[in-house]
Amino acid sequence: MSDKRSLRQKYAQILKGETHCDDPRQHNHGDEPICNPSNNPDFVSILNSRLQRRQVLKGSLALAVTSMFAGPAINTLRARPAAASSTLLGFKAVPVSDVDTVVVPEGYTASILVPFGEPITGSYPAYSLDNTGADQGMQMGSHHDGMHFFPIEGESPYAGSSDDGLLVLNHEYVEPRYMHTAALGMALDSDGVPMMGEMRDADQVLKELNGHGVSIVRVRKQANGTWAVEPDARNRRITGLTPMEISGPVRGSDLVKTRYSPDGTRTRGTLNNCAHGVTPWNTYLTAEENWAGYFRNGDVVAGSNQGEVEPNLPREHTRYGVATGVSRYGWELASNGADDYIRFDASTKAASPTQDYRNEPNTFGWVVEIDPFDPTSTPQKRTALGRFAHEGVVFQPPVEGEPVVCYSGDDARFEYVYKYVSAQPYFSATAGGYLLDNGTLYVARFNEDGSGEWIALVFGQNGLTPENGFKSQADVLVNTRTAADFVGATKMDRPEWGAVDPATKQVYFTLTNNTRRTEDQVDAANPRAANEWGHIIRWSEGNNNPTSKTFQWDLFVLAGPEDDSKTLNGQALNEDGKFCCPDGLWFDANSRLWIQTDISESVMNTGDYVQFGNNQMLAADPVTGEVRRFLTGPIGQEITGVITTPDQRTMFINVQHPGATVTADDFAAGSLNSRWPDQSTSMYPRSATVVITKNDGGIIGT
Ligand code: FEO
Ligand code: CA
Ligand code: CA
Ligand code: CA
Repeated sequence: MSDKRSLRQKYAQILKGETHCDDPRQHNHGDEPICNPSNNPDFVSILNSRLQRRQVLKGSLALAVTSMFAGPAINTLRARPAAASSTLLGFKAVPVSDVDTVVVPEGYTASILVPFGEPITGSYPAYSLDNTGADQGMQMGSHHDGMHFFPIEGESPYAGSSDDGLLVLNHEYVEPRYMHTAALGMALDSDGVPMMGEMRDADQVLKELNGHGVSIVRVRKQANGTWAVEPDARNRRITGLTPMEISGPVRGSDLVKTRYSPDGTRTRGTLNNCAHGVTPWNTYLTAEENWAGYFRNGDVVAGSNQGEVEPNLPREHTRYGVATGVSRYGWELASNGADDYIRFDASTKAASPTQDYRNEPNTFGWVVEIDPFDPTSTPQKRTALGRFAHEGVVFQPPVEGEPVVCYSGDDARFEYVYKYVSAQPYFSATAGGYLLDNGTLYVARFNEDGSGEWIALVFGQNGLTPENGFKSQADVLVNTRTAADFVGATKMDRPEWGAVDPATKQVYFTLTNNTRRTEDQVDAANPRAANEWGHIIRWSEGNNNPTSKTFQWDLFVLAGPEDDSKTLNGQALNEDGKFCCPDGLWFDANSRLWIQTDISESVMNTGDYVQFGNNQMLAADPVTGEVRRFLTGPIGQEITGVITTPDQRTMFINVQHPGATVTADDFAAGSLNSRWPDQSTSMYPRSATVVITKNDGGIIGT
C-alpha cells in the first residue's frame, strides 16, 4: 500500500486534475467507473409523462411496477399469471449461503475443472505460486468469466459431442497478490500490486499479462464420469500479448496507428475479457470490458492557475476512463522497459503517433473473434461492433438469407445497449467473420410507453457529421460512447449480459445496479433511484423481426429482497428466489433462463447485502416469471459463465475471484477467508470452472 501511495504522490499533481471518470485505483473491481458526462435526457420528448410517473413512484414500488406492466404496448408481452409452480424448474431451491463451498440442489453433483494455473499447453508446467511469466502462458489464466463448450466435431456451436469438446473461456483480470511469491507478507488488497521501488518486476508483469485473455482447452469426459484436460494441438492461450488484427471500418485509421503498427492494422493482446459470444459459424467472441484503466496518459496543458497543469487527453481516452495517474497494474513501469509493457503509457512521447503509444488505448474496447479450431489463426478485433466496455455479445438465431443480428451492453453506470445488423445476409454454407466487418451499429432508446427505437450510429446520419465533431465512420466507432450520447440514447443501470429466448426471440439484458442514479434520473426502463439490487429488462423486436428499428420492452424482474422486488406475476421474490445484482444471463435450449449474480466484493455479505449471502446462480421461467436458486458459490467470488453440453446433461459454470474480500491486513497476516477450491492452508483461492451433473443423468434444471 505504501508503494502505491508513493506512486500516487509522484503523479499527485496530475491526479488533482479531473477526468470524467473515477480513478481506476479508487474503485473496486465490481464498481465500474462513471465516464458519461453527457446531458442527453433519457426521454426528451416525454417529460410530462415522466413527471406523472414519478408521482406514482413516490407511492409504493408495487403500484409503480403495476402501472409499468399495464401500458397498452406492454400487454402483448405480459406473462400469464402463475397459477402453479413452474414446470420448467424441476429442482429444489438451495438456501442462501455464506460458506466456502459450491452448493447445488439435492440430486446434483459439482466438481472442479481447470482452475487458474492448470497446465493446458506447451510443456504443461505444473501449477505453483513461483511459476514464471512464461509458465503462466502455458497454463489457465485467472478470473474465469464467459465460456462456451464447442463440441469436438467443430461443425456447430450447439450440436455434436456431449463428452468431448473445446472449452473456451475468458480470463477477466488478475489478483497479483495471489500470483506472486513477492506478495507474501505484504499488505495488499485485491487490487494491490507488489512494487520494486517505483518499478514493477518485469517477469511479474509478464505473468499478469499472460494471466489475462482466453484459454482454449480440450476437455473430455472420462470413463468414471469425471472431466479432465486432454492434451491437444488446439489447446491455446491467447493473452494480453497475442498479436491481433484490427478488422472492419477502423482498420488503417489514423486513430489506431502506433509504433507497433504504423499502418494501424495490428495490435497486441486482449484485456479484461468479460462475457463472450458465440457466432453462428462456430467461432468465439471475447469482449473487452474494463480495459481503459490498464492505460495511463499523463499528457498535460498549463492550468488556469499559474504553475499548475491539468490533464490534456483526447475524448477517445477521457470518455472511457483512461487513467491520468497510475494505471491499474502499473505495467508501464516494468523494470526492463520492454516495448510490450511501455505501451500502457499512452502519453505523447515522440513527434508522431507512429513513434509512440498515444493511440494504443484505441486498439482496445472491441469485440475480438477467435477461431478455436485453428490454433494458427490470428484473432480479429471486429471494430464494426463499436468501442466501449463490452460486457459480451449475444446473437439472434441465424436465418438463412437474412442479416446477422447481435447485441452488446456497455457495462458502466449510465451507459447504453447496442445492436449490430450485418449488411450482408447469412448463408450457413459461406458465413464467416466478414459478416461482422460490414454492418450497422445501433444504440437503444427505451421510451416511457414501452416502445423503443434503434438509432443508427452511422457517419453522416442522425447528426454524426463533421459540423458536430465526427470525421468518419472510424471516428464514430472509436468514439462510440460519444456518438451514442449525441443521438440521445437511454442511460442504463450498467448493462451486463444479454440472452435471447430461443422460443420467442425476445432479448433479455441484466442491469446489474446503479447506486448513483438519483430520483431526477429515474425513468421507466431504470425505475429505481439508488438502484442497489438491479433488474432485468427484455424486449421483442418490431414484428418479431430482429432487424427492426423499433421494439417493445418491459421489465422481467426487479431484483431485491422480499420487501423490495417484483416478478412478472406481480409478486415479490420469495426466500427461494431472492437475489440481487444480476450479471451473467443465458437461455438453455428449453428456454430456461439462468441468472448469475455479482454483488461487488466491496459490499458482499455486509449490511443490506448479508441477506443474499455469497454470489449465486438461479433459474427462471420466462413465461411465469418464477425465479429459483440453483447454486451458491464460495466466499468472496462471483458466479459467471454458463453453458451446457448439447445434451444438456453436463453444465459448466465459472467461479471468479474467490477470496477477493480478504482485507489487505488479513492477507499480510495469512488469514484468508477462502481457500476454495483446494481447501489447503498452503494454497491461495483460485478461480475455476465447476462441472455440474444430475446424479440420475438427467437434463440440468429439470
Ligand atoms: Fe465484467 Fe460487467 O462484468
Ligand atoms: Ca465482477
Ligand atoms: Ca459481468
Ligand atoms: Ca459485474
